Amino acid sequence: MVKIDVKGCEPFVKEEQVKAYVQKALDAFDVLDSETGAGNDFLGWKHLPSQITDGLINDMDAIRESWNKKGVNLVIAIGIGGSYLGAKAVIEALSHSFAKQLKHKDAPEVVFAGNNLSEDYLAELMDLASERNVACIVISKSGTTTEPAVAFRIVKQFLESNYGKREAAERIVAITDAERGALKVLSRQEGYKTFIVPNNVGGRFSVLTPVGLLPIAVAGFDIKALVEGAKKAERALSIKETNNPAVVYAAMRNLLFKECGKNTEILVNYNPKLTYVAEWWKQLYGESEGKDGTGIFPASVNNTADLHSMGQFIQEGTRIMFETVLHVDNARRSVVIESDGQNLDQLNFLSGKHVEHCNHMAELGTRLAHIDGGVPQIEVAIETLDAKRLGELLYFFEFACGISAYTLGVNPFNQPGVEAYKKNMFALLEKPGYEDATKAIKAHL
Ligand code: PA5
Repeated sequence: MVKIDVKGCEPFVKEEQVKAYVQKALDAFDVLDSETGAGNDFLGWKHLPSQITDGLINDMDAIRESWNKKGVNLVIAIGIGGSYLGAKAVIEALSHSFAKQLKHKDAPEVVFAGNNLSEDYLAELMDLASERNVACIVISKSGTTTEPAVAFRIVKQFLESNYGKREAAERIVAITDAERGALKVLSRQEGYKTFIVPNNVGGRFSVLTPVGLLPIAVAGFDIKALVEGAKKAERALSIKETNNPAVVYAAMRNLLFKECGKNTEILVNYNPKLTYVAEWWKQLYGESEGKDGTGIFPASVNNTADLHSMGQFIQEGTRIMFETVLHVDNARRSVVIESDGQNLDQLNFLSGKHVEHCNHMAELGTRLAHIDGGVPQIEVAIETLDAKRLGELLYFFEFACGISAYTLGVNPFNQPGVEAYKKNMFALLEKPGYEDATKAIKAHL
């Protein structure tokens, strides 16, 4: 199970403060557990791991198999925010770093679109598509989000003109609301296979629904193991106790924020495969807590690379941050540093050592230096980076997020601030219905 170590916070906090914040987090645990808090109509994610049926997994496997039979080697997964980050995080974490160059994987390559409005990106995506055998998963809970809708219009037209309307329909799967939204209507009309995003699961908590699971499955990864890990975490974290890792994490980050003025949390990894886990985590915590004029700003670094760019600021810049270090006990692969006859680089003292040993010493050395520099440290550890441990980690962060946001006193499950840019964008694009807003915004320019 995910382990948490908060010894790196001890120099910054008093014991009675820790006790008080653990109590606050336990109270928040009760609110989450009893489903009596704000946003309690969005708690479907809590029991997703234990409720996923074999039937649903089989349905997703059937899509993977039917596309494999067609020789599909490129799947374009269209979605933004919670409708793409979970899948991207898991696929990046489990993939070979050079899978594209090695091309030794049977499963199709999954690429993402609809998470930006860059014309260059879409044009280049079509360059790639025109050389490949393509299918598409379009994901939008609301079915009305502009970025994925624009991308889907282009990809749909590409598929229809290359494969014909009927075959295109077999190469498109839609994941959306059970009843509402343009994507639902279109899917009914065109006969697309659909999967449902449950009503009571918000985008950023949807990685363990088909939103995350289908792209991960078609990319060839073991979604059963991912769900198994999440199920283990669901069981372990449901126990109300002071050393529940989710309670400890929620308590400590709120304590550092409220009592120590640490308003920025940096999620630190020492494996580039975790870059998108950090991006997923940033959305989860940023959208869940950043509201009502409060919240911890979620940031991330990829070490050791970023020790040579952000390291200076973290060590000696404005003292606003604490770090949560994602520690992985064991590497998946083994590379040992060999002795060198000349030893010009003077690295023979490392002969016989695993590279991961050096990585762990870099991690430990950095944490000690950052404590000396005034940056409290939380460690969140998993045994290794496989599907099961990743499932544990994702569920841990979701559950802890619910507790943490309730400890902070905000509704974790809404995101009213996301609408502001959309209103301005539609006004500037002169969308029908926005005439007054268009006039008003143009007067400001
Ligand atoms: O967490 C959220 O709810 C958001 O980030 C959504 O996932 C994102 O805005 C995409 O929304 P939709 O799936 O409705 O297109």
